[in-house]
Amino acid sequence: MSRYHEVYQSWCDDPIGFWGKAAAEIDWAEPWTSVFNPDGGIYGLWFEGAQCNTCYNCLDRHVENGRGDQAALIYDSPITDTKRTLTYSQLLDEVATLAGALQTQGIEKGDRVILYLPMIPEAAVAMLACARIGAVHSVVFGGFAAAELATRIDDARPKAILTASCGIEPNRIVEYKPLLDEAVNLATHKPDFCVVFQRSQSVAELTPGRDFDWGEFVSEAQPADCVMVAATDPLYILYTSGTTGVPKGVVRDNGGHMVALKWTMKNIYGMDPGDIYWAASDVGWVVGHSYIVYAPLLQGCTTILFEGKPVGTPDAGTFWRVISEHGVAAMFTAPTAFRAIKKTDPDGKFIKNYDLSKFRTLFLAGERADTDTIQWAERHLGVPVLDHWWQTETGWAIAANPVGLGTLPVKYGSPTVAMPGYDVRVVDEAGIEVSDGDIGVIVVKLPLPPGCLPSLWQNDERFRESYLETFEGYYETSDAGYKDEDGYLYIMARTDDIINVAGHRLSTGGMEEVLSSHPDVAECAVIGKADALKGQVPLGFIVINAGVNRPTEEIEQECVKLVRQKIGPVAAFKLAIVVTGLPKTRSGKILRGTMRCIADNESYKMPATIEDASVLDAISDTLKNRGLVA
Ligand code: COA
Ligand code: AMP
Repeated sequence: MSRYHEVYQSWCDDPIGFWGKAAAEIDWAEPWTSVFNPDGGIYGLWFEGAQCNTCYNCLDRHVENGRGDQAALIYDSPITDTKRTLTYSQLLDEVATLAGALQTQGIEKGDRVILYLPMIPEAAVAMLACARIGAVHSVVFGGFAAAELATRIDDARPKAILTASCGIEPNRIVEYKPLLDEAVNLATHKPDFCVVFQRSQSVAELTPGRDFDWGEFVSEAQPADCVMVAATDPLYILYTSGTTGVPKGVVRDNGGHMVALKWTMKNIYGMDPGDIYWAASDVGWVVGHSYIVYAPLLQGCTTILFEGKPVGTPDAGTFWRVISEHGVAAMFTAPTAFRAIKKTDPDGKFIKNYDLSKFRTLFLAGERADTDTIQWAERHLGVPVLDHWWQTETGWAIAANPVGLGTLPVKYGSPTVAMPGYDVRVVDEAGIEVSDGDIGVIVVKLPLPPGCLPSLWQNDERFRESYLETFEGYYETSDAGYKDEDGYLYIMARTDDIINVAGHRLSTGGMEEVLSSHPDVAECAVIGKADALKGQVPLGFIVINAGVNRPTEEIEQECVKLVRQKIGPVAAFKLAIVVTGLPKTRSGKILRGTMRCIADNESYKMPATIEDASVLDAISDTLKNRGLVA
């Protein structure tokens, strides 16, 4: 029998008491003056007045309590054929030393440090080192191009950038140094210094006067003590796609974040100290922040940092090898990773080669989990496969099936129920709640729980406009869906122009901005087309300027190249198609929804306000001729 309903009700009855109790799991240097101050910040502030340190709670206190010899982090990198285990004591030493080196170079509480790092232990070390001295880290995913890094440099204005010589993808080595140089060149703000971790796969040439070699940087450093910060001080900024090409700087605080994540490890994921936990994501995403680094360490678990892919490194059995070799109890990944495995090994033959007896639960998130994939995983792994729903902004699950409270019955297509902290409503455009089963916009009644973003980095106005203005008193998730009679949520689609490609959140608006910058493009529209592996892939429609006589294929290829150059390979933008016109309403609004239906071969209702319906037929014919629609 699950305790979920009882626990959720206890939160409804006394939210302050609920989080005050959860906060007892964290070590504080100074207690709070209020668990929640509704008059602080934009919608209130959690644990105001408290002083704490996130790194202390992740590392020092475990070492002080006798956990020093336990593995804190296992680096498993099939792509480089490397494995390395760091105990809590060893990780603490590395973190304190890097923190000391950063302090020596003038990094202080509140300074920003950008981390542009691949999936190597140094990424986690750098995050924790910043946390230790109160510096605010901002991790930038390695699959983004220099221009994206430059935008983040100009917004975060970092004193330092920590990077590596390269990242490694199955088909190529990604040299980070040229990307870093180009980004620093493009950005108006310049960092005081950079630190480069040299990997043997490719050694970078350092820029004299600006760059330190990582090894030398830490070699003489004295370990730094923890610097106490206010619970409400920022721990990190993580940029995520907004509706334009300018990403949103999601801010995470220290105190509320620790309280919420620690609560989730036991109650949602069912993890005890000493358990082995694996989030197969990347430190560049929120899942990596919350569940590769902070939450497992707060809970005294061992976390796995995996540098590889679900297939091809070396085969579709990699996940099972990692689970069996390290005794993983729970794994968290995106459905797309399982679709990739299922496609390569449909009968799950690789699974039979490994002992998965310690494996208890598989968690999925990041995109809609399709029933086929869930059932395939259930059948072959023989453990509960639980979908849960959240966003970069929330930092932890809005809806989940909480293992620690007792798993609820699984309903395929639903990430299950709202977690304590979240009063989730489904409303119509006027903000009126719709009936069970009816689709509407999903909103969360304010205040958001601890761990969610208090604002966007130095942009309260954009925070209010993006999330709080449409429905007064509510946070707008920008997801649409419905609730059933048992309170189960179903997340169906985004209400904005964000698409989800292989579990990565991308802005079609951002891609349109890039396409429009091509000199021959008159106008364009990008939509997310359904894809059996990645969930969605971007598809760009371009109309070329009158009088341009170059071959259209040439322009299409240039457009594809341009998006890769400006946004990065992670955009997975491979399809740009020249069309004669875009469907529009009489007021000039591009009918992207109708184009998506055509691209996905779905039936659609002819919009009454369409200016010229023949454009739709032309698009349909073009897609058929290209073999993109049957
Ligand atoms: N640095 C540089 N390039 C990167 C990168 C990184 N860290 N991560 C991905 N890329 C590149 C890939 O090499 C690929 O480039 P290509 O166009 O030259 O082939 C491109 O970005 C697209 O990557 P991706 O969408 O990941 O596709 P893929 O074909 O390489 O792999 C999957 C497909 C399904 C195996 C892969 O997406 C995957 O493992 N997904 C898991 C999802 C995940 O971790 N989500 C995080 C949220 S939980
Ligand atoms: P990100 O901020 O990158 O984590 O992306 C968040 C978005 O991914 C959400 O707003 C949803 O649109 C989508 N998403 C995340 N998890 C799920 C899920 N379990 N089911 C459906 N959509 C999801």
